[in-house]
Amino acid sequence: MQTKWWKESVVYQIYPRSFMDSNGDGIGDIGGIRLKLDYLKELGIDVIWICPVYESPNDDNGYDISDYYRIMKEFGTMEDFELLLKEAHDRGMRIIMDLVINHTSDEHPWFVESRSSRNNPKRDYYIWRPPGANGAEPNNWESIFGGSAWQLDEQTGEYYLHLFSVKQPDLNWEYEEVRQELYRMVRWWLDKGIDGFRIDAITHIKKIAGLPDLPNPDSRTYVPSWDGHRNREGILDYLRELKEETFARYDIMTVGEANGVELEQAEQFVGPDTGVFDMMFQFEHMAVDHGPGGKWEYNPNWKLSDLKAILSRWQTGLENRGWNALYLENHDAPRSVSRFADDGTFHSESAKMLAVCYMLMQGTPYIYQGQEIGMTNAPFSDIQDYRDVEIMNFYREAKAAGLSDEHILQAVHAQGRDNSRTPMQWSADLHAGFSEAEPWMRTNPNYTAIHVEGQLADPESIFHFYKKLIALRKSIPLVLTGSYELLMPEDEKHFVYVRRGTEGVLLVVCSFSPEATELRLPEELTGRESRLLLTNYSNGQADAEGDCLISIPEVWTLRPYETGVYLFDPK
Ligand code: GLC
Ligand code: CA
Repeated sequence: MQTKWWKESVVYQIYPRSFMDSNGDGIGDIGGIRLKLDYLKELGIDVIWICPVYESPNDDNGYDISDYYRIMKEFGTMEDFELLLKEAHDRGMRIIMDLVINHTSDEHPWFVESRSSRNNPKRDYYIWRPPGANGAEPNNWESIFGGSAWQLDEQTGEYYLHLFSVKQPDLNWEYEEVRQELYRMVRWWLDKGIDGFRIDAITHIKKIAGLPDLPNPDSRTYVPSWDGHRNREGILDYLRELKEETFARYDIMTVGEANGVELEQAEQFVGPDTGVFDMMFQFEHMAVDHGPGGKWEYNPNWKLSDLKAILSRWQTGLENRGWNALYLENHDAPRSVSRFADDGTFHSESAKMLAVCYMLMQGTPYIYQGQEIGMTNAPFSDIQDYRDVEIMNFYREAKAAGLSDEHILQAVHAQGRDNSRTPMQWSADLHAGFSEAEPWMRTNPNYTAIHVEGQLADPESIFHFYKKLIALRKSIPLVLTGSYELLMPEDEKHFVYVRRGTEGVLLVVCSFSPEATELRLPEELTGRESRLLLTNYSNGQADAEGDCLISIPEVWTLRPYETGVYLFDPK
């Protein structure tokens, strides 16, 4: 059987607002993406995932859609989009779009009608409930973005449910007509020739029956509501229907944003025949540095052994049962080099190490814009410099609870979503070469040092390392097919794994230490000749890549954040 194209692909995620501005208004746009297609081609990208570009009032930067059939004016026109699709296809690249169908904008005509009266025909497109006792919210659920998940609408005196922002009312998936409207829209886009979807927040579409209060042992005003709507019983009926009515009819790829899906359910979600998606983003490793209170309680003492355990569990768990979506970054998460490695002294070495660490696992790797040049978290010291609705809500609530600005900013620096949303750093020119105008969001001041132009010119750059790594992935069949085994799971400094198959053994060594370390590998691997395929250090013991033969020593001294990829021939 032929391998599915999406298994062999490397995906690049674009956050259009921050990628490239082509018309000098300070906002990234579709014209800007078109300008950079050759750049992505050079990197070795096969598939581009574009975050929402539909008409939207931008309460949540496009994740609040007011018209699924139009392109956001700030981003361009439908003609621009069609041109982009054609130009990508001409270069042998594919495009997948973001599909946001858990909710719409409150400015979507469906919602405008729905809220207009209790007996409007579109009333049941959304989730309305009368007030509880004394006019209170219908239940105690907290929104994912903070505050109550309910908003009172004066016009009809009822509340609507919004799991995300107030301007993102949840669609009522129980209502057949809504589902059919969504399927029609999905087919409309697929008929245009796009190559698939990343399906947003999809594990939240099913809410538990009766929308009851959730247990509240700590007597909070609102309680985290995950148990009310995250991956609840019955969701697969909807997802199977969605697949049958849309995806299954096209040669496309789908990746579900699958917060709350356990490995045990993998077959139902991403099994080769039985699954509803081709792959999914699991969330477990994104919480490895969260405290007991969630993401705003950053835990700087997170453990490498935890990260290894999570990723390895998904590696072995999905083997022959599904397919992994590999990622360390996205538009909702901090920058990986700041989060898991070192954005200071060993910036370049450690960014390269992280790339090797996740990209040689089994699955389809995703690179988030700027990751390929090692963009870092944003160091803003003024809350005014942030834009994200989630950060704003958190700030307001934390202030109300009496926390200091300093305390709040510390949390935002570590975990805020705007860390990854600063404008792409194209050059050392004004505004990082992103725009001629003041960008919609401040650039990270380190753009003068970290930028595409400089890295393209430097063969030792992070960009060129990514490029080599992508090419290597494609030339070594073991990366696609080899079984995965984590070595030394308890080791807190090294992430080492092997990929085995009939073509031999691929050894992947990654040091997460800012100091020189000693590594003792299992006997099976020491004293044997191997070919060094890629390393982030060009001097010393590992000096030439490619045909350089290396015998792995019993006690191996690794330099800070050293990484190396070694191939052993079959015995
Ligand atoms: C997803 C998106 C995020 C968005 C949310 C609501 O988690 O990745 O950016 O805010 O859904 O649509
Ligand atoms: Ca623009």
